[in-house]
Amino acid sequence: MVLRSFALANAEAIFAAVGRIVAAAPFRQMQTPGGFRMSVAMSNCGPLGWVTDEAGYRYAASDPESGQPWPPLPALFLRLAAEAAAEADFGDFVPDACLINRYEPGARMSLHQDKDERDFSQPIVSVSLGLPAVFLFGGLKRSDPARRIPLTHGDVVVWGGPDRLRYHGVLAVKDGAHPLVGACRLNLTFRKAH
Ligand code: SIN
Ligand code: FE2
Repeated sequence: MVLRSFALANAEAIFAAVGRIVAAAPFRQMQTPGGFRMSVAMSNCGPLGWVTDEAGYRYAASDPESGQPWPPLPALFLRLAAEAAAEADFGDFVPDACLINRYEPGARMSLHQDKDERDFSQPIVSVSLGLPAVFLFGGLKRSDPARRIPLTHGDVVVWGGPDRLRYHGVLAVKDGAHPLVGACRLNLTFRKAH
């Protein structure tokens, strides 16, 4: 479900909170297990954070760069994630992880499934800020055709239930400047990891 502008009224507060989070846990371009550096720069907040390195993909309770716990999930984030999930009929969504992605122009995310979480009955809630992007929403096989869904500042996407393991990705972000966020796209995905 695409919830157009669902986060728009809170965009400034979310952006300010991201600034505080990345002051403690800076954006970094992680390595995939295959040895590639991701074009998207990432940070996390919450009890768990998604990380990748040569050892693989996983959730970790602390930031491998600092050894410190990830910054806490702001109350605003928890409320927004639960309200968006409820719009899509997923009640009582309490995420324990928020992956924060920063796409500079040219950055992209290839088709993948979110499958490092333990409980696939819980949805994924995705909040987009800043530059627009084309979100790819495919099927349960990588080779299935993918819908192209344009996402702009303030849009929220929720997927779960029978669609929880659909392949998805993001086409390369085009050059531009957003009045609040600047020359990048930010995406926050809320997950129940453990
Ligand atoms: C993701 O799949 O983790 C990110 C999706 C997005 O940036 O819209
Ligand atoms: Fe994903």
